[in-house]
Amino acid sequence: MSAVLPAQFQPITDEQAALLGRLTDALDHSGLWWLSGYAAGLARGRTVPTTALAAVASETIATPQLTIVYGSQTGNARRQAEALSTQIEAAGFGVRLLRADAYPLRELKNERHLVIVISTQGDGDPPDDARAFVEFIAGKRAPKLPDLRYSVLALGDSSYPKFCAIGRQLDARLAELGATRWFERGDADLDIDTVATPWMANALAAAKDALKPQVPLATVTPLRPHAQAAAGIYTRDHPFPAEVLVNQRITGRGDRRATSNKDVRHVELSLEGSGLKYEPGDALGVWPTNPPRLVAALLATLQLDGDAPVSSHGGQTLPLHEWLSTKREITRLSRPFLTQHAQRAGAVALDAILATDGMAALADLLANRQLIDLLREYPAAWKADELVAALRPLAPRLYSIASSARVVGEEAHLTVTHIEYAVDGDADPRWGTTSDFLARSNEGGTVPVFIERNERFRLPSEASRDIILIGPGTGVAPFRAFVQERAESGASGRNWLFFGNPHAHGDFLYQLEWQDALKSGALHRLDLAFSRDQPHKIYVQDRLRERGAEVFGWLQSGAHLYVCGDATRMAKDVHSALLDIIATHGGKSADEANDYLNDLQAQGRYARDVY
Ligand SMILES: Cc1cc2nc3c(=O)[nH]c(=O)nc-3n(C[C@H](O)[C@H](O)[C@H](O)COP(=O)(O)OP(=O)(O)OC[C@H]3O[C@@H](n4cnc5c(N)ncnc54)[C@H](O)[C@@H]3O)c2cc1C
Ligand SMILES: Cc1cc2nc3c(=O)[nH]c(=O)nc-3n(C[C@H](O)[C@H](O)[C@H](O)COP(=O)(O)O)c2cc1C
Repeated sequence: MSAVLPAQFQPITDEQAALLGRLTDALDHSGLWWLSGYAAGLARGRTVPTTALAAVASETIATPQLTIVYGSQTGNARRQAEALSTQIEAAGFGVRLLRADAYPLRELKNERHLVIVISTQGDGDPPDDARAFVEFIAGKRAPKLPDLRYSVLALGDSSYPKFCAIGRQLDARLAELGATRWFERGDADLDIDTVATPWMANALAAAKDALKPQVPLATVTPLRPHAQAAAGIYTRDHPFPAEVLVNQRITGRGDRRATSNKDVRHVELSLEGSGLKYEPGDALGVWPTNPPRLVAALLATLQLDGDAPVSSHGGQTLPLHEWLSTKREITRLSRPFLTQHAQRAGAVALDAILATDGMAALADLLANRQLIDLLREYPAAWKADELVAALRPLAPRLYSIASSARVVGEEAHLTVTHIEYAVDGDADPRWGTTSDFLARSNEGGTVPVFIERNERFRLPSEASRDIILIGPGTGVAPFRAFVQERAESGASGRNWLFFGNPHAHGDFLYQLEWQDALKSGALHRLDLAFSRDQPHKIYVQDRLRERGAEVFGWLQSGAHLYVCGDATRMAKDVHSALLDIIATHGGKSADEANDYLNDLQAQGRYARDVY
């Protein structure tokens, strides 16, 4: 390769050329294309030292014509972006695919064709990997973009009041910066493909229209291939039937002192024979079956015959009870369904709530009421086929894996809060679909599962680094995996866990294991916050503040910080506590503390897995 360059432009030494020769000799056709794309991606992220080199690079490396940037918390946007990249590349166009936190922001002003695939998290927030990207585009430093053509695929969940908020926000902001909408934005609900498939067809048509086919540059894919893809056949769309080995309540009941209001399950599943591999930090996806009593209650309320055959638009014909048991969401409400139901019910009160778009009443309805509550409060007639068409397809739920494969072998352990709560005037409680499915699962039975990788929630690659783990409630699950893994691998760094829950008696998840870990040296520090064991509430963020000087000391000496669990309140309160700690013990202003934490996040030393 170097031999074809004029000597004065040769960018690599003879020694490097020899090394490169050995590497390229070992690669086949697709490997060489992959390497060229990978190197181009790397080069874009680095400062080019001389203009001469830049000139050579532009002559010898084809510039990708389309950039795809994705922001993803739980993998959906990443999967869509990867699928689009593959399609565009296969059609012969140069494409580069980048996670938002790897996108060199200074290149935005030079982009000509940009596609963004991004989910919305929290309460209308960006996914963690796209925070800086979204902030930059929203902020004052964003450049004018008169030459840019773009499109956005927004991913979301219409159970949330701020549906697809981040994708919408980026779409509007890019237009404001002078960029031209290349083709229309897609707003994908949990049945992502319904919107993503036609949106991708538009993307491909637009690429064929606007871009010249060229020798394809290989996509810059993550260096480590997805274990799941490498391992074989079991995926989200083709889950593995994992045998339930253990399904055990680990919160107290019976003994008054140890009674808990929560039913938290420790579930052990066998992955034997599946070829599925996971690392600490990954989640397990579970495809549920809806609670049978809830299906029966819905059929009775709607006076529909569960045995009646119903055909979907896709042409599948099943009895109605089967649609409601395994194919449709029947717990969580969505805005499109509310709109349709309001029309049928002629419910003025419901119309008023919907008109307040994004306001408290709608948020409250979506968060606290289920389909059965709606049908009873605002009765309306539904025909079976119309109901099946109006309800959203059932989606799997994710659970942090609470075990290290090094320790448990071909098993995955979960820590699951069984959502089951009473409502006034009904003998039946309300259930969460998947947590109830898991809680109901019998040892020896099977549940359909897949692995959802989470590359942003990983133990430090340097085993000597200390780690601080903040995981109240079921947020402790991945930290059980972390501590198991570090003990097994003999990592020399210290492990400090902050755990909290309402009561020490009854809610101290994995108490004996943590106590053993402290004794054996697998866990170095444990700080506990049992919120209701004293007159005033104490949470993990309070314990963090109490230990502020030491927490800051650990961070200064390179510790990695992890937060897992409740996104609505805990993660926000912990974030504020960390800012206070950094300001107080680091002698920093609020802005400096914010920069410090952002910097930790950018280095991968502040990772969150919150839900
Ligand atoms: C990356 C990730 C990791 C996760 N890890 C874990 C984990 O380790 N352990 C774990 O338990 N969960 C975990 N979750 C959450 C999990 O995925 C599910 O969201 C959770 O179990 C609820 O799902 P469900 O199907 O049981 O309930 P759904 O059927 O989805 O929801 C139940 C419905 O009831 C409503 N509702 C729930 N509780 C109440 C209440 N008390 N009062 C009124 N209404 C209520 C809800 O708003 C909803 O409408 C994780 C989520 C993510 C994204
Ligand atoms: C904790 C949490 C909060 C969420 N908040 C929103 C929201 O405010 N608006 C929305 O449209 N979707 C919201 N979603 C739904 C996600 O955007 C949706 O599941 C999406 O497919 C996730 O894509 P990702 O895996 O690429 O992150 C939320 C999901 C979770 C787990």
